[in-house]
Amino acid sequence: MKKRDFLRITDLAPADLRDVLELSADLKRAPLSRKAALAGRAIAIVMEKPSTRTRVSFEVGVAQLGGHPLVLGVQGSQLERGEPVADTARILERLCDLIVYRTSTSDRMTEMATARVGVINALTDAGHPCQVLADVFTMEESLAKHGLEPRLRGRRVAFVGDGSSNMARSFIEAARAFEFHLELCCPPGYRPPAFEVERAKEFVEIHEDPAEALRDVAFVHTDVWTSMGQEAETQKRLAAFAGFTLTPEMLRHAPQDAHVMHCLPAHRGEEIDEKVLEGSRSIVWDQAENRLHVQKALMLFLLGMS
Ligand code: CP
Ligand code: NVA
Repeated sequence: MKKRDFLRITDLAPADLRDVLELSADLKRAPLSRKAALAGRAIAIVMEKPSTRTRVSFEVGVAQLGGHPLVLGVQGSQLERGEPVADTARILERLCDLIVYRTSTSDRMTEMATARVGVINALTDAGHPCQVLADVFTMEESLAKHGLEPRLRGRRVAFVGDGSSNMARSFIEAARAFEFHLELCCPPGYRPPAFEVERAKEFVEIHEDPAEALRDVAFVHTDVWTSMGQEAETQKRLAAFAGFTLTPEMLRHAPQDAHVMHCLPAHRGEEIDEKVLEGSRSIVWDQAENRLHVQKALMLFLLGMS
């Protein structure tokens, strides 16, 4: 079988993404239903940046599928001493069946993807496709729980915050793949790359006014203003994003039944108010759990075992 990567949402055709979400729902209903699927297989999870949710959900997910999760950080591996990513890939492809990789640049991700086994992007500066695919699952699950048509197609979804971030950029791809309308609300200096917006132009609108962006949306997402690796810009960003905090007052611009999501970790009082994060409209904890179910389905799909 030809190896398959998941480096960005659009690496899978919309019909394949739909199959992964359907399998995710089956696995959520019966988490141990495929407990021998990965017997005898090893999945490398290489983390060059900190992680709680992604690491735990992949590690537990592989274990629940009967495989061996092998977690490697920079520290303690030869990556710390500068061994090229491509050489690391040549070792992992011989010993493992799939590579889950979190790194900084897309170039490093592309280098890892030279491996002869599938590579899953577990976050770069340019995208966080596993998170956003799981977020689509969570949004559709929430619609179903409220007796609504469980499809995002045609609905409005807001993202308030850093439009140039990995999360916003994967959301742009997801909007195109799942045909929902992304209302991206960001300060002028923090817009996504124009060519990425252009590719999804039917499905993406950029706003600076939250009142406009939140009108008629079903979900409101946010994420940190300072992503991992940008810590030196913290003060500049705090100033630039003033007025973009998701507060109860801001949320009044959204319909009363709109739900709030955040990929976490959250900075309470910066991008999101404590009352919103912990309020009845927040579904962030379901959102975090669903990483497990969706990534298990994704791994099975990429390995041709769905
Ligand atoms: N949302 C997310 O990816 O969390 P971690 O950084 O903890 O993995
Ligand atoms: N944009 C955040 C996402 C963390 C899961 C970051 O890159 O730090």
